[in-house]
Amino acid sequence: MKDQLKQEFTNIYNKPAQNGWFSPGRVNLIGEHIDYNGGLVMPCAITFGTYLLTAPNEDNVFRFRSTNFDTYLEIPVQADYKKDGEGWFNYPLGVIEHFVKGGHKLSGLDMLFYGDIPIGSGLSSSASIEVVTAFALNKLFNATYSKLDLVKIAKSVENNFIGVNCGIMDQFAVAFGEKDKALMLNCDTLEYQAVDSNLGEHVLAVINTNKPRKLAESKYNERVQECATALKQLQQLLDINNLCDIDTDTFKQYQHLITDETVKNRATHVIEENDRVKLAAKALAANNLTEFGRLMYASHDSLRDLYEVSGKELDAVVEYAKTDKNVAGARMTGAGFGGCAIALVKVKAFDEFNAAVTKYYTDKIGYAPSVYSSLIGDGVGILF
Ligand code: GLA
Repeated sequence: MKDQLKQEFTNIYNKPAQNGWFSPGRVNLIGEHIDYNGGLVMPCAITFGTYLLTAPNEDNVFRFRSTNFDTYLEIPVQADYKKDGEGWFNYPLGVIEHFVKGGHKLSGLDMLFYGDIPIGSGLSSSASIEVVTAFALNKLFNATYSKLDLVKIAKSVENNFIGVNCGIMDQFAVAFGEKDKALMLNCDTLEYQAVDSNLGEHVLAVINTNKPRKLAESKYNERVQECATALKQLQQLLDINNLCDIDTDTFKQYQHLITDETVKNRATHVIEENDRVKLAAKALAANNLTEFGRLMYASHDSLRDLYEVSGKELDAVVEYAKTDKNVAGARMTGAGFGGCAIALVKVKAFDEFNAAVTKYYTDKIGYAPSVYSSLIGDGVGILF
């Protein structure tokens, strides 16, 4: 891959790339729609990701090219940048804007991006491209940001430049991920532990529904808003900063403060899901994959019924998984509204699972999913 991309860079820019960088995507094992509610999540970085090759130019411009898209951007080095339509280059452009606003003097740079994360699949291709750009600029222009600063910059780009009110999980996971580890991240304090992903005789299967994620961003922002409403109503009697500051038992005593049934359902999901992550961490530590799998299924059911971010495609994958004795657990991962599901599948039965879930899904939905056996990889770093 590296050599092919280097060649591509030379073909486009008529000079060799000087530096290469890589940032992965992520899956989240459990703890969904929790990060912007200040609770616990358990993501891991995957081996798919975004590659960035760079070389300085003397023309005082930023050039954004990608091997995935025909669209590209060339823009002068200036003091201010605005989002330009819906193009993919807005993600790195937003990062540049952030560095410039932070007082860093940048100069002309030719960039070539390549991503092997299926785009819009809920595996965080956007966090991946933001973090790889922030990491590269930090090194190239000696900005001396810490890795956590880069995570916060990437999140701010997504919130303020792109306009999605996401939490910090994705950017954190792709920056801090470690091979064969899951990150137990407290999204309020940002304390985290890298724990052995300990899947025993299981492998993590990623099943892409291949459903285009239409309306995902507006629905996502709607959920964020609903949680804010729930929090505000609970704060009438409770001294809390986040929904995840209370557990299920406490919530039961105060849920009457939430006037709207839908909003109450959203809060119920969040608070119960946060409790599930605590149980899942214990199960993983005790190597109890049966219990971990049960919690995954419970998480999916709650995202389907209470949070309403699943859909018939993701449900079909999980429905099939429940019938397969070689699967310990399955659930949708990421924001939902299409995208990917994950399943813990016995290593020796992976091919059988792949064939069976593909058939079940295709019969039901009308087109095939893509099924991968995922490897848990490292976070952002230098390629060369
Ligand atoms: C998206 C967001 C994350 C998180 C998940 C849901 O991936 O970017 O911040 O909220 O959805 O858990």
